[in-house]
Amino acid sequence: MRIKNICCIGAGYVGGPTMAVIAQKCPEINVTVVDINEERIEAWNNEDVENIPIYEPGLSDVVKETRDRNLFFSTDVDAAINEADMIFISVNTPTKTYGIGKGMAADLKFIELCARQIARVSKNDKIVVEKSTLPVRTAEALKNILDNTGNGVSYQILSNPEFLAEGTAIDDLMNPDRVLIGGDIDTIEGKEAVEALVDIYAHWVPRERLLTTNVWSSELSKLTANAFLAQRVSSINAMSELCEKTGADVNDVAKAVGMDTRIGVKFLKSSVGFGGSCFQKDILNLVYISKSLGLNEVADYWEQVILMNDHQKRRFAANMVKTLFNTVSGKKIALLGWAFKKDTNDTRESAAIYVADYLLNEQAEIVVYDPKVKMEQIYADLDSLETRSEQENRSLVSVVNDAYEATKGSHAVAVLTEWDEFKQLDWKNIYKDMLKPAFVFDGRRLLVKQTMEEIGFEFYAIGS
Ligand code: UDX
Ligand code: ADP
Repeated sequence: MRIKNICCIGAGYVGGPTMAVIAQKCPEINVTVVDINEERIEAWNNEDVENIPIYEPGLSDVVKETRDRNLFFSTDVDAAINEADMIFISVNTPTKTYGIGKGMAADLKFIELCARQIARVSKNDKIVVEKSTLPVRTAEALKNILDNTGNGVSYQILSNPEFLAEGTAIDDLMNPDRVLIGGDIDTIEGKEAVEALVDIYAHWVPRERLLTTNVWSSELSKLTANAFLAQRVSSINAMSELCEKTGADVNDVAKAVGMDTRIGVKFLKSSVGFGGSCFQKDILNLVYISKSLGLNEVADYWEQVILMNDHQKRRFAANMVKTLFNTVSGKKIALLGWAFKKDTNDTRESAAIYVADYLLNEQAEIVVYDPKVKMEQIYADLDSLETRSEQENRSLVSVVNDAYEATKGSHAVAVLTEWDEFKQLDWKNIYKDMLKPAFVFDGRRLLVKQTMEEIGFEFYAIGS
Protein backbone atom coordinates (compact mmCIF):
# COMPACT_ATOMS: atom_id res chain seq x y z
CA MET A 1 0.00 0.00 0.00
CA ARG A 2 1.55 3.35 -1.07
CA ILE A 3 0.40 6.50 0.64
CA LYS A 4 0.02 9.51 -1.66
CA ASN A 5 -2.04 11.91 0.42
CA ILE A 6 -1.88 12.53 4.13
CA CYS A 7 -4.28 14.67 6.11
CA CYS A 8 -3.52 15.75 9.66
CA ILE A 9 -6.37 17.08 11.78
CA GLY A 10 -4.99 19.58 14.31
CA ALA A 11 -2.29 22.15 13.51
CA GLY A 12 -0.83 22.36 17.01
CA TYR A 13 2.49 21.63 18.70
CA VAL A 14 2.36 18.00 17.62
CA GLY A 15 0.60 18.08 14.23
CA GLY A 16 2.50 21.09 12.82
CA PRO A 17 6.12 20.00 13.38
CA THR A 18 5.44 16.30 12.72
CA MET A 19 3.78 16.94 9.37
CA ALA A 20 6.43 19.47 8.34
CA VAL A 21 9.12 16.82 8.84
CA ILE A 22 7.14 14.09 7.06
CA ALA A 23 6.63 16.47 4.12
CA GLN A 24 10.33 17.28 4.03
CA LYS A 25 11.42 13.64 4.15
CA CYS A 26 8.74 12.31 1.77
CA PRO A 27 8.58 14.78 -1.14
CA GLU A 28 6.31 12.43 -3.12
CA ILE A 29 3.57 12.59 -0.49
CA ASN A 30 1.15 15.51 -0.24
CA VAL A 31 0.56 16.51 3.34
CA THR A 32 -2.36 18.75 4.30
CA VAL A 33 -2.69 20.00 7.86
CA VAL A 34 -6.18 21.16 8.76
CA ASP A 35 -7.60 22.92 11.78
CA ILE A 36 -10.91 24.50 12.71
CA ASN A 37 -9.02 27.44 14.16
CA GLU A 38 -8.88 29.88 11.22
CA GLU A 39 -6.47 32.23 12.91
CA ARG A 40 -4.01 29.40 13.50
CA ILE A 41 -4.16 28.24 9.88
CA GLU A 42 -3.75 31.80 8.66
CA ALA A 43 -0.66 32.10 10.83
CA TRP A 44 0.79 28.84 9.44
CA ASN A 45 0.33 30.35 6.00
CA ASN A 46 1.93 33.64 7.01
CA GLU A 47 4.30 34.83 4.29
CA ASP A 48 6.97 35.44 6.88
CA VAL A 49 7.84 31.94 8.14
CA GLU A 50 9.19 33.46 11.32
CA ASN A 51 5.59 34.30 12.23
CA ILE A 52 4.15 30.78 12.19
CA PRO A 53 2.15 30.13 15.36
CA ILE A 54 4.55 27.71 17.02
CA TYR A 55 8.03 28.56 18.10
CA GLU A 56 10.34 25.58 17.79
CA PRO A 57 14.05 25.79 16.86
CA GLY A 58 14.55 24.68 13.22
CA LEU A 59 10.85 24.49 12.40
CA SER A 60 10.64 27.61 10.26
CA ASP A 61 13.39 26.31 7.92
CA VAL A 62 11.52 23.06 7.32
CA VAL A 63 8.30 24.96 6.70
CA LYS A 64 10.07 27.35 4.32
CA GLU A 65 11.31 24.42 2.26
CA THR A 66 8.08 22.43 2.12
CA ARG A 67 5.16 24.82 2.34
CA ASP A 68 3.13 24.98 -0.87
CA ARG A 69 5.46 22.31 -2.32
CA ASN A 70 3.90 19.28 -0.61
CA LEU A 71 2.88 20.78 2.74
CA PHE A 72 -0.40 22.67 2.91
CA PHE A 73 -2.36 24.31 5.71
CA SER A 74 -6.10 24.65 5.34
CA THR A 75 -9.39 25.02 7.18
CA ASP A 76 -11.23 22.84 4.67
CA VAL A 77 -11.27 19.74 6.85
CA ASP A 78 -13.76 17.80 4.72
CA ALA A 79 -11.80 18.19 1.49
CA ALA A 80 -8.55 17.08 3.10
CA ILE A 81 -10.17 14.03 4.71
CA ASN A 82 -11.78 13.10 1.43
CA GLU A 83 -8.52 13.16 -0.52
CA ALA A 84 -6.36 11.40 2.07
CA ASP A 85 -5.33 7.75 2.23
CA MET A 86 -4.02 8.27 5.72
CA ILE A 87 -5.44 10.61 8.36
CA PHE A 88 -3.53 11.62 11.49
CA ILE A 89 -5.61 12.78 14.41
CA SER A 90 -3.59 15.33 16.30
CA VAL A 91 -6.19 17.30 18.20
CA ASN A 92 -5.93 18.26 21.83
CA THR A 93 -7.02 15.91 24.60
CA PRO A 94 -7.06 18.10 27.71
CA THR A 95 -7.97 16.81 31.14
CA LYS A 96 -11.75 16.86 31.65
CA THR A 97 -13.05 19.95 33.44
CA TYR A 98 -16.56 18.61 34.02
CA GLY A 99 -18.59 15.50 34.81
CA ILE A 100 -17.28 12.02 35.55
CA GLY A 101 -13.49 11.89 35.72
CA LYS A 102 -13.31 15.68 36.13
CA GLY A 103 -9.71 16.77 36.77
CA MET A 104 -8.36 13.37 35.80
CA ALA A 105 -9.71 11.60 32.72
CA ALA A 106 -8.79 12.86 29.28
CA ASP A 107 -11.53 14.73 27.48
CA LEU A 108 -12.11 12.84 24.28
CA LYS A 109 -14.76 15.07 22.79
CA PHE A 110 -12.41 16.54 20.16
CA ILE A 111 -11.30 13.06 19.14
CA GLU A 112 -14.87 11.87 18.87
CA LEU A 113 -15.84 14.87 16.76
CA CYS A 114 -12.97 14.06 14.40
CA ALA A 115 -14.06 10.43 14.15
CA ARG A 116 -17.61 11.44 13.32
CA GLN A 117 -16.39 13.89 10.71
CA ILE A 118 -14.17 11.25 9.11
CA ALA A 119 -17.07 8.81 9.09
CA ARG A 120 -19.37 11.37 7.47
CA VAL A 121 -16.97 12.49 4.74
CA SER A 122 -15.05 9.36 3.73
CA LYS A 123 -15.91 7.61 0.48
CA ASN A 124 -12.93 5.22 0.25
CA ASP A 125 -10.92 3.13 2.72
CA LYS A 126 -8.71 5.02 5.13
CA ILE A 127 -5.97 4.46 7.62
CA VAL A 128 -6.60 6.54 10.73
CA VAL A 129 -3.61 7.24 12.94
CA GLU A 130 -3.98 8.43 16.54
CA LYS A 131 -1.20 10.86 17.23
CA SER A 132 -2.62 12.63 20.27
CA THR A 133 -1.84 10.99 23.59
CA LEU A 134 -4.88 9.02 24.49
CA PRO A 135 -6.00 6.78 27.28
CA VAL A 136 -5.55 3.11 26.54
CA ARG A 137 -8.38 1.63 24.46
CA THR A 138 -9.32 4.87 22.70
CA ALA A 139 -8.59 3.24 19.38
CA GLU A 140 -11.40 0.85 20.13
CA ALA A 141 -13.83 3.72 20.63
CA LEU A 142 -12.60 5.31 17.40
CA LYS A 143 -13.11 2.08 15.53
CA ASN A 144 -16.60 1.70 16.93
CA ILE A 145 -17.67 5.10 15.67
CA LEU A 146 -16.04 4.63 12.29
CA ASP A 147 -17.35 1.10 11.71
CA ASN A 148 -20.93 1.90 12.58
CA THR A 149 -21.69 4.47 9.94
CA GLY A 150 -22.82 1.88 7.44
CA ASN A 151 -21.43 3.46 4.26
CA GLY A 152 -19.21 0.48 3.46
CA VAL A 153 -15.89 2.25 4.00
CA SER A 154 -13.36 0.23 5.97
CA TYR A 155 -10.90 1.73 8.40
CA GLN A 156 -7.64 0.64 9.94
CA ILE A 157 -6.78 2.34 13.21
CA LEU A 158 -3.13 2.80 14.14
CA SER A 159 -1.60 4.24 17.26
CA ASN A 160 1.57 6.22 16.62
CA PRO A 161 2.30 8.09 19.84
CA GLU A 162 4.40 11.19 19.83
CA PHE A 163 7.65 11.19 21.77
CA LEU A 164 8.87 14.60 20.70
CA ALA A 165 9.63 17.11 23.41
CA GLU A 166 8.92 20.77 22.81
CA GLY A 167 11.97 22.92 22.21
CA THR A 168 13.76 19.99 20.58
CA ALA A 169 10.85 18.74 18.46
CA ILE A 170 12.58 18.97 15.09
CA ASP A 171 15.64 17.12 16.27
CA ASP A 172 13.49 14.53 18.05
CA LEU A 173 11.56 13.99 14.82
CA MET A 174 14.66 13.79 12.63
CA ASN A 175 16.56 11.45 14.98
CA PRO A 176 14.03 9.61 17.11
CA ASP A 177 15.22 7.04 19.69
CA ARG A 178 12.35 4.93 18.38
CA VAL A 179 9.07 5.27 16.53
CA LEU A 180 6.22 3.23 17.88
CA ILE A 181 3.44 2.00 15.62
CA GLY A 182 0.56 0.03 17.05
CA GLY A 183 -1.95 -1.71 14.83
CA ASP A 184 -4.19 -4.68 14.39
CA ILE A 185 -1.22 -6.93 13.69
CA ASP A 186 -3.25 -10.12 13.87
CA THR A 187 -4.98 -9.40 10.56
CA ILE A 188 -3.57 -9.01 7.05
CA GLU A 189 -5.27 -5.62 6.56
CA GLY A 190 -3.95 -4.43 9.90
CA LYS A 191 -0.41 -5.51 9.05
CA GLU A 192 -0.61 -3.73 5.70
CA ALA A 193 -1.68 -0.51 7.38
CA VAL A 194 1.19 -0.77 9.87
CA GLU A 195 3.61 -1.37 6.98
CA ALA A 196 2.28 1.68 5.13
CA LEU A 197 3.19 3.88 8.09
CA VAL A 198 6.49 2.06 8.62
CA ASP A 199 7.36 2.89 4.98
CA ILE A 200 6.79 6.57 5.61
CA TYR A 201 9.14 6.71 8.61
CA ALA A 202 11.65 4.43 6.86
CA HIS A 203 12.38 7.39 4.53
CA TRP A 204 14.68 8.64 7.29
CA VAL A 205 14.52 6.45 10.39
CA PRO A 206 16.61 3.22 10.51
CA ARG A 207 14.35 0.16 10.41
CA GLU A 208 15.56 -1.19 13.74
CA ARG A 209 14.17 1.88 15.44
CA LEU A 210 10.67 1.31 14.06
CA LEU A 211 8.80 -0.75 16.63
CA THR A 212 5.49 -2.36 15.80
CA THR A 213 3.12 -3.65 18.46
CA ASN A 214 -0.56 -4.13 19.01
CA VAL A 215 -2.58 -0.98 19.57
CA TRP A 216 -2.96 -1.30 23.33
CA SER A 217 0.77 -1.77 23.97
CA SER A 218 1.47 1.28 21.87
CA GLU A 219 -1.07 3.44 23.69
CA LEU A 220 0.12 2.29 27.11
CA SER A 221 3.80 2.74 26.22
CA LYS A 222 3.26 6.43 25.65
CA LEU A 223 1.63 6.95 29.04
CA THR A 224 4.33 4.83 30.67
CA ALA A 225 7.22 6.73 29.07
CA ASN A 226 5.86 10.06 30.26
CA ALA A 227 5.04 8.71 33.72
CA PHE A 228 8.61 7.39 34.11
CA LEU A 229 10.13 10.69 32.97
CA ALA A 230 7.91 12.74 35.25
CA GLN A 231 8.67 10.36 38.10
CA ARG A 232 12.38 11.08 37.73
CA VAL A 233 11.78 14.80 37.98
CA SER A 234 9.57 14.35 41.04
CA SER A 235 12.15 12.00 42.58
CA ILE A 236 15.00 14.50 42.21
CA ASN A 237 12.71 17.31 43.36
CA ALA A 238 11.87 15.32 46.50
CA MET A 239 15.62 15.10 47.12
CA SER A 240 16.02 18.85 46.51
CA GLU A 241 14.02 19.60 49.63
CA LEU A 242 16.05 17.14 51.66
CA CYS A 243 19.24 18.76 50.32
CA GLU A 244 18.08 22.20 51.42
CA LYS A 245 17.51 20.92 54.95
CA THR A 246 20.79 19.03 55.26
CA GLY A 247 23.42 21.06 53.42
CA ALA A 248 23.76 18.63 50.52
CA ASP A 249 23.59 20.03 46.99
CA VAL A 250 21.04 18.51 44.63
CA ASN A 251 23.27 19.02 41.58
CA ASP A 252 26.03 16.99 43.21
CA VAL A 253 23.58 14.30 44.20
CA ALA A 254 22.11 14.20 40.68
CA LYS A 255 25.57 13.93 39.15
CA ALA A 256 26.65 11.14 41.48
CA VAL A 257 23.44 9.23 40.97
CA GLY A 258 23.30 9.84 37.23
CA MET A 259 26.80 8.45 36.65
CA ASP A 260 25.47 5.05 37.60
CA THR A 261 24.81 3.80 34.09
CA ARG A 262 21.81 1.85 35.34
CA ILE A 263 20.23 5.20 36.22
CA GLY A 264 21.71 7.60 33.65
CA VAL A 265 22.15 11.37 33.60
CA LYS A 266 19.01 12.58 31.89
CA PHE A 267 15.92 14.00 33.57
CA LEU A 268 17.59 14.56 36.92
CA LYS A 269 17.57 18.33 36.81
CA SER A 270 15.84 19.68 39.87
CA SER A 271 13.36 22.43 39.09
CA VAL A 272 10.45 24.45 40.36
CA GLY A 273 8.30 21.58 39.04
CA PHE A 274 7.56 19.98 35.71
CA GLY A 275 4.97 21.47 33.38
CA GLY A 276 3.87 20.95 29.81
CA SER A 277 0.87 19.47 28.11
CA CYS A 278 1.80 15.82 28.65
CA PHE A 279 3.24 14.78 32.00
CA GLN A 280 0.44 15.76 34.32
CA LYS A 281 -2.29 14.83 31.87
CA ASP A 282 -0.82 11.43 31.07
CA ILE A 283 -0.19 10.51 34.69
CA LEU A 284 -3.70 11.57 35.65
CA ASN A 285 -4.90 9.34 32.85
CA LEU A 286 -2.91 6.45 34.18
CA VAL A 287 -4.30 7.07 37.66
CA TYR A 288 -7.83 7.24 36.33
CA ILE A 289 -7.50 4.06 34.31
CA SER A 290 -5.96 2.24 37.27
CA LYS A 291 -8.75 3.39 39.57
CA SER A 292 -11.40 2.37 37.07
CA LEU A 293 -9.88 -1.10 37.02
CA GLY A 294 -9.91 -1.25 40.84
CA LEU A 295 -6.10 -1.03 41.04
CA ASN A 296 -5.98 1.45 43.91
CA GLU A 297 -2.36 0.89 44.92
CA VAL A 298 -1.21 1.41 41.34
CA ALA A 299 -3.27 4.60 41.15
CA ASP A 300 -1.87 5.93 44.45
CA TYR A 301 1.69 5.12 43.39
CA TRP A 302 1.49 7.25 40.26
CA GLU A 303 -0.63 9.97 41.83
CA GLN A 304 2.20 10.67 44.25
CA VAL A 305 4.32 11.91 41.31
CA ILE A 306 1.75 14.67 40.75
CA LEU A 307 1.37 15.46 44.45
CA MET A 308 5.14 15.87 44.73
CA ASN A 309 5.12 18.20 41.75
CA ASP A 310 2.33 20.33 43.21
CA HIS A 311 4.26 20.48 46.46
CA GLN A 312 7.43 21.62 44.70
CA LYS A 313 5.71 24.57 43.02
CA ARG A 314 3.97 25.58 46.25
CA ARG A 315 7.04 25.24 48.40
CA PHE A 316 9.11 27.38 46.02
CA ALA A 317 6.57 30.20 46.28
CA ALA A 318 6.13 29.75 50.03
CA ASN A 319 9.89 29.99 50.50
CA MET A 320 9.89 33.29 48.62
CA VAL A 321 7.28 34.73 50.96
CA LYS A 322 9.06 33.47 54.06
CA THR A 323 12.41 34.83 52.93
CA LEU A 324 10.96 38.23 52.07
CA PHE A 325 10.27 38.71 55.80
CA ASN A 326 6.98 36.80 55.72
CA THR A 327 5.17 39.26 53.49
CA VAL A 328 5.14 40.13 49.83
CA SER A 329 2.06 42.32 50.07
CA GLY A 330 2.57 45.34 47.80
CA LYS A 331 6.10 44.19 46.91
CA LYS A 332 7.21 44.13 43.30
CA ILE A 333 8.39 40.69 42.23
CA ALA A 334 9.88 40.02 38.81
CA LEU A 335 9.30 36.63 37.21
CA LEU A 336 11.80 35.70 34.52
CA GLY A 337 10.25 33.07 32.28
CA TRP A 338 6.67 31.90 31.87
CA ALA A 339 6.98 29.00 29.38
CA PHE A 340 7.07 25.50 30.90
CA LYS A 341 10.66 25.12 29.66
CA LYS A 342 13.09 26.98 27.42
CA ASP A 343 12.88 27.19 23.63
CA THR A 344 9.11 26.99 23.45
CA ASN A 345 6.25 29.47 23.65
CA ASP A 346 4.00 26.80 25.17
CA THR A 347 2.79 27.57 28.69
CA ARG A 348 0.47 24.66 29.40
CA GLU A 349 0.76 23.61 33.07
CA SER A 350 3.84 25.80 33.45
CA ALA A 351 5.07 26.06 37.05
CA ALA A 352 5.21 29.85 36.60
CA ILE A 353 1.42 30.05 36.50
CA TYR A 354 1.10 28.44 39.92
CA VAL A 355 3.97 30.35 41.48
CA ALA A 356 2.43 33.62 40.25
CA ASP A 357 -0.99 32.63 41.55
CA TYR A 358 0.44 31.87 44.99
CA LEU A 359 2.26 35.18 45.14
CA LEU A 360 -0.82 37.08 43.95
CA ASN A 361 -2.82 35.51 46.78
CA GLU A 362 -0.22 37.06 49.05
CA GLN A 363 -0.94 40.39 47.34
CA ALA A 364 2.37 40.71 45.53
CA GLU A 365 2.71 42.93 42.46
CA ILE A 366 4.08 40.84 39.64
CA VAL A 367 6.03 41.78 36.54
CA VAL A 368 6.67 39.05 33.99
CA TYR A 369 9.18 38.79 31.19
CA ASP A 370 9.43 35.79 28.87
CA PRO A 371 11.31 35.97 25.55
CA LYS A 372 8.63 34.09 23.57
CA VAL A 373 5.35 34.16 25.46
CA LYS A 374 2.84 36.89 24.59
CA MET A 375 1.07 39.07 27.13
CA GLU A 376 -2.41 37.77 26.23
CA GLN A 377 -1.27 34.22 26.92
CA ILE A 378 -0.01 35.11 30.39
CA TYR A 379 -3.31 36.75 31.32
CA ALA A 380 -5.27 33.86 29.82
CA ASP A 381 -3.27 31.37 31.91
CA LEU A 382 -3.95 33.27 35.12
CA ASP A 383 -7.61 33.80 34.26
CA SER A 384 -8.06 30.08 33.62
CA LEU A 385 -7.34 29.35 37.29
CA GLU A 386 -10.37 31.48 38.22
CA THR A 387 -8.70 32.52 41.48
CA ARG A 388 -9.60 36.18 41.05
CA SER A 389 -11.30 38.44 38.52
CA GLU A 390 -9.76 39.11 35.13
CA GLN A 391 -9.64 42.77 36.07
CA GLU A 392 -7.60 42.03 39.20
CA ASN A 393 -5.16 39.88 37.26
CA ARG A 394 -4.58 42.77 34.87
CA SER A 395 -4.12 45.30 37.62
CA LEU A 396 -1.74 43.16 39.71
CA VAL A 397 0.33 41.66 36.90
CA SER A 398 2.21 43.50 34.21
CA VAL A 399 4.04 41.98 31.29
CA VAL A 400 7.10 43.67 29.82
CA ASN A 401 9.44 43.16 26.89
CA ASP A 402 12.79 42.93 28.58
CA ALA A 403 14.38 41.54 31.70
CA TYR A 404 15.87 44.85 32.84
CA GLU A 405 12.53 46.59 32.79
CA ALA A 406 10.99 43.66 34.69
CA THR A 407 13.57 43.66 37.45
CA LYS A 408 13.98 47.42 37.87
CA GLY A 409 12.73 48.57 41.28
CA SER A 410 11.78 45.05 42.36
CA HIS A 411 12.26 43.43 45.76
CA ALA A 412 12.93 40.00 44.32
CA VAL A 413 13.50 38.13 41.07
CA ALA A 414 12.43 34.54 40.46
CA VAL A 415 13.90 32.56 37.56
CA LEU A 416 11.17 30.15 36.47
CA THR A 417 12.22 29.08 32.97
CA GLU A 418 15.78 28.13 32.03
CA TRP A 419 16.09 30.44 29.00
CA ASP A 420 19.77 30.76 27.99
CA GLU A 421 19.51 34.54 27.76
CA PHE A 422 18.93 34.80 31.52
CA LYS A 423 22.47 33.52 32.08
CA GLN A 424 23.86 36.31 29.91
CA LEU A 425 22.04 39.17 31.64
CA ASP A 426 24.07 41.95 33.17
CA TRP A 427 23.25 40.93 36.73
CA LYS A 428 25.40 43.71 38.18
CA ASN A 429 23.17 46.27 36.51
CA ILE A 430 20.06 44.42 37.65
CA TYR A 431 21.37 44.48 41.22
CA LYS A 432 21.97 48.21 41.03
CA ASP A 433 18.39 48.91 40.00
CA MET A 434 16.70 46.67 42.59
CA LEU A 435 15.57 47.46 46.13
CA LYS A 436 17.95 46.24 48.85
CA PRO A 437 18.33 43.61 50.11
CA ALA A 438 17.95 42.25 46.59
CA PHE A 439 16.73 38.66 46.43
CA VAL A 440 17.06 36.16 43.59
CA PHE A 441 15.25 32.82 43.70
CA ASP A 442 16.56 30.42 41.07
CA GLY A 443 13.95 27.76 40.32
CA ARG A 444 16.05 26.23 37.56
CA ARG A 445 19.60 26.11 38.93
CA LEU A 446 20.55 28.40 36.07
CA LEU A 447 22.79 30.94 37.82
CA VAL A 448 26.05 30.54 39.70
CA LYS A 449 25.59 31.08 43.43
CA GLN A 450 29.07 32.40 44.07
CA THR A 451 28.92 35.00 41.29
CA MET A 452 25.48 36.17 42.38
CA GLU A 453 26.55 36.49 46.01
CA GLU A 454 29.67 38.40 45.03
CA ILE A 455 27.48 40.94 43.23
CA GLY A 456 25.56 41.34 46.48
CA PHE A 457 22.37 39.34 45.96
CA GLU A 458 20.66 37.27 48.62
CA PHE A 459 20.62 34.15 46.48
CA TYR A 460 18.48 31.01 46.84
CA ALA A 461 18.59 28.11 44.42
CA ILE A 462 16.30 25.13 44.54
CA GLY A 463 18.05 22.16 46.12
CA SER A 464 20.92 23.69 48.06
C1 UDX B 1 7.31 15.37 27.18
C2 UDX B 1 8.09 14.10 26.80
O1 UDX B 1 9.49 14.30 27.06
C3 UDX B 1 7.87 13.76 25.34
O2 UDX B 1 8.52 12.55 25.01
C4 UDX B 1 6.38 13.63 25.09
O3 UDX B 1 6.12 13.38 23.74
C5 UDX B 1 5.65 14.88 25.53
O4 UDX B 1 5.95 15.18 26.89
P1 UDX B 1 7.66 17.98 26.86
O5 UDX B 1 6.48 18.13 27.76
O6 UDX B 1 7.67 18.76 25.60
O7 UDX B 1 7.84 16.45 26.44
O8 UDX B 1 8.98 18.41 27.67
P2 UDX B 1 10.06 17.69 28.59
O9 UDX B 1 11.39 18.07 28.08
O10 UDX B 1 9.78 16.26 28.78
O11 UDX B 1 9.89 18.47 29.97
C6 UDX B 1 8.71 18.39 30.77
C7 UDX B 1 8.85 19.22 32.03
O12 UDX B 1 9.79 18.63 32.93
C8 UDX B 1 9.35 20.65 31.77
O13 UDX B 1 8.63 21.55 32.57
C9 UDX B 1 10.81 20.59 32.18
O14 UDX B 1 11.30 21.84 32.58
C10 UDX B 1 10.74 19.60 33.33
N1 UDX B 1 12.03 18.91 33.58
C11 UDX B 1 12.57 18.09 32.64
C12 UDX B 1 12.70 19.10 34.79
O15 UDX B 1 12.21 19.84 35.64
N2 UDX B 1 13.87 18.45 35.01
C13 UDX B 1 14.43 17.62 34.09
O16 UDX B 1 15.51 17.06 34.37
C14 UDX B 1 13.76 17.44 32.86
P1 ADP C 1 -1.01 19.45 20.74
O1 ADP C 1 0.05 19.91 21.68
O2 ADP C 1 -1.54 18.09 21.12
O3 ADP C 1 -0.61 19.53 19.31
P2 ADP C 1 -2.66 21.84 20.39
O4 ADP C 1 -3.73 22.38 21.29
O5 ADP C 1 -1.45 22.65 20.16
O6 ADP C 1 -2.30 20.39 20.96
O7 ADP C 1 -3.28 21.53 18.95
C1 ADP C 1 -4.47 20.87 18.72
C2 ADP C 1 -5.22 21.56 17.56
O8 ADP C 1 -6.34 20.74 17.19
C3 ADP C 1 -5.80 22.93 17.89
O9 ADP C 1 -5.23 23.89 17.01
C4 ADP C 1 -7.33 22.77 17.67
O10 ADP C 1 -7.93 23.91 17.08
C5 ADP C 1 -7.38 21.59 16.71
N1 ADP C 1 -8.67 20.87 16.72
C6 ADP C 1 -9.38 20.41 17.78
N2 ADP C 1 -10.50 19.77 17.38
C7 ADP C 1 -10.52 19.82 16.02
C8 ADP C 1 -11.43 19.33 14.99
N3 ADP C 1 -12.53 18.65 15.30
N4 ADP C 1 -11.11 19.57 13.69
C9 ADP C 1 -9.98 20.26 13.38
N5 ADP C 1 -9.10 20.73 14.28
C10 ADP C 1 -9.36 20.53 15.58
